[in-house]
Amino acid sequence: MKALYSLFFVFALLLVVLFGVGAAHLNMLFGVWIPYVAMAVFLLGFIYRVYDWAKSPVPFRIPTTGGQQWSVLPEVKQNRWDNPTTVRDTVIRMAFEVLLFRSLFRNTKSEVYKNENGGPVVAYASAKWLWLFGILFHYSFLTIVIRHMRLFTEPVPGFITLIDSLDSLLQIAAPTLYLTDVALVAAATFLLMRRILAPQIRYLSLAADYFPLFLILAIAISGIYMRYIAKVDVIAIKELTMGLVTFHPHIPANVGISFYIHLFLVSILLLYFPFSKLMHLGGVFLSPTRNLPNDSRVRHHENPWNPKIKCHSYADYEDDFREPMIEAGLPVDKAE
Ligand code: HEM
Repeated sequence: MKALYSLFFVFALLLVVLFGVGAAHLNMLFGVWIPYVAMAVFLLGFIYRVYDWAKSPVPFRIPTTGGQQWSVLPEVKQNRWDNPTTVRDTVIRMAFEVLLFRSLFRNTKSEVYKNENGGPVVAYASAKWLWLFGILFHYSFLTIVIRHMRLFTEPVPGFITLIDSLDSLLQIAAPTLYLTDVALVAAATFLLMRRILAPQIRYLSLAADYFPLFLILAIAISGIYMRYIAKVDVIAIKELTMGLVTFHPHIPANVGISFYIHLFLVSILLLYFPFSKLMHLGGVFLSPTRNLPNDSRVRHHENPWNPKIKCHSYADYEDDFREPMIEAGLPVDKAE
């Protein structure tokens, strides 16, 4: 049901554009004002969420670790990238996480089997599919977004053209098929099917898990439709997108409804982003279980908001009572 609601909601979004642009001709609203508002909400919302996380106090080291921690004993070998004590090793660990999804790579699945007496046994096995499709999904998305920058830049920077030609390396069909278009749709479909078909994951999934997947799939499919089927007038669209980025918005005549659908769905994604789980894009960098070195036993950490306690040490105590102590025959550390 949750998956169906999300799917219907994405269809309802399509209807909004078909009605808004197709029937009511609100081209300025859908081509300019909604994208502007969406971008503003995305940027401000993103900054606010990151600021909010960044100002939360993190008084203790709470990294999750997966290997031997540093020891004074030289024969005990530290696992530096799983249990880092220095900032440098923590940065390396973070880079592995952010760029290669290392913790997801080490993800295991657990299943209950029957032993020879018919009793339940829990067995753990490697589960690399999620990692593979997860990484495919994210890198295709990133590549597509970078490639899209050709619509917002003039002249188009060389590295964008380079990425574009690498992505169309196979030169299948005309216009050439982008590898990332296939990869994004395949990976998003896998991630969606995993939630719908695996009973354990379906049980855990919320509408907030299905909706972004349906929405991203709809964005990708509408983009693919524009490029390979509708063969939209990209020159007219670039006129519009350049108008948006230079704050001189205007709507050229030749922009078809399929572009408004694509743009509206992207605007909804931007509007939704700061309030959703998609904020893991910023959150991964601020996760204290990941971004802290595990140096609790190496360095003295003081809770920054503890009240300043004036300590009265044994040495001070002895200074106060040295004479009576000596008179009473009690041992003292210092005679004077
Ligand atoms: C979340 C962001 C976006 C995603 C995931 C996305 C996805 C896609 C995909 C998969 C395609 C198919 C062809 C290709 O890969 O280039 C496409 C095409 C296209 N997209 Fe997007 N898009 C996004 C944002 C935008 C924005 C903001 C605009 C313009 C304001 C835009 C305009 C277009 C146009 C004009 C095409 C057709 C390009 C051509 O015919 O070569 N897209 N999009």
